[in-house]
Amino acid sequence: MSRRILFVDDEQAILSGLRRSLRSMRNEWEMTFAQSGEEAAAHLEDSDFDVIVTDMRMPGMDGVELLTRVKRDQPQIVRIVLSGHTDRASIMKATGVAHQYLAKPTDADELVGAIKRTGRLEHLLAERRVIEAAGGLGALPPMPALYGEVAAELGSDDPSLNKVARIVARDPGMAAKVVQIVNSSFFGMRTRVTSPEQAVTMLGIDTVVGLIVSDPFQEPTTPGGEDSRWLAGLATGTLAREIAKLEGLDKQAIDDAYLAGLLHDCGRTIMALRFPSDLDAVEAEPQTGSVLESERAIFGASHPEIGALILGVWGLPSTVLEAVAFHHHPGESGGSSFGPLTAVHAASAIVSSEFGDHPTLIDEAHLEAVGKFDHLGAWQAAYEPPEELTA
Ligand SMILES: [Fe+2]
Repeated sequence: MSRRILFVDDEQAILSGLRRSLRSMRNEWEMTFAQSGEEAAAHLEDSDFDVIVTDMRMPGMDGVELLTRVKRDQPQIVRIVLSGHTDRASIMKATGVAHQYLAKPTDADELVGAIKRTGRLEHLLAERRVIEAAGGLGALPPMPALYGEVAAELGSDDPSLNKVARIVARDPGMAAKVVQIVNSSFFGMRTRVTSPEQAVTMLGIDTVVGLIVSDPFQEPTTPGGEDSRWLAGLATGTLAREIAKLEGLDKQAIDDAYLAGLLHDCGRTIMALRFPSDLDAVEAEPQTGSVLESERAIFGASHPEIGALILGVWGLPSTVLEAVAFHHHPGESGGSSFGPLTAVHAASAIVSSEFGDHPTLIDEAHLEAVGKFDHLGAWQAAYEPPEELTA
């Protein structure tokens, strides 16, 4: 089935340019072009779309108002902003309602790539309520204690960017948010950054304040069991980074391994946040099959799939998505060389044998296939429990 994409811009020339440059996608996408927010709203009432790409400043209904309606009424639609206005105020307005932010002018390849990365939605058999819940989520809620530490530091007379960066890097929600923003073309940085600390340093104090402290979509409330999930994520990210270093991966892959480890179980957080009683049912089930099978029976999708889905919608890099999507069964990824995925898988197995809310079992055939099975002992020896556990 072809994907249905709605493009909205008040400038006819921009729409014509998009129509021309996206001609090669005609067989894959059904494309609709609207010249105002009102016209787009009428299209949205008449037909189903998978993705909306809209300008921000338009006379009448502007991009923020349009996306606010889409988020409320059809949260399953992926919302992308394509704007010529990249001032801080515009960015802040868009972050609460859009999944991704692109700056004009954008080339066709970048736009096609951004839309394609969100393509996991319709391939998943997840129940519609799960896809809607994931699509409606602008960010993962920060851990209250870490959010408090960041807010206190940012509110002090002389806030230290390095200190803020170190705290943000320990929190899955805040880390995902800063990495998402720094990689969006809004900031015109063409390098891929997956280190949350580096992202905070690049964004600067003012933007971080706007993103984290004044964002009403990041309520610092967390679902039950989140403390242990957070600790397991932090320990997994930290160990995955150590394993990547031990194996001599480059800085980018080491950063990818940490971020993917920190976020690897974020699908469970989404389940706990939106469907707590269903997650209780998964946990109560006698483990005759695997955790993932129980999740698929109840949600239509497992937590690695739901986690990768939301991170893809947010536009995070594909290496991170892959490591999250296959952290339980890396052999299913089709990859045959060692990289962040194997590091995250092994770290998750080592950490979850000590604590956490579900086990990851070592995929021995995969470790053999990437030629690292005999390294497992060294990786286990590199594990240090997070200080919160030992304190
Ligand atoms: Fe998991």
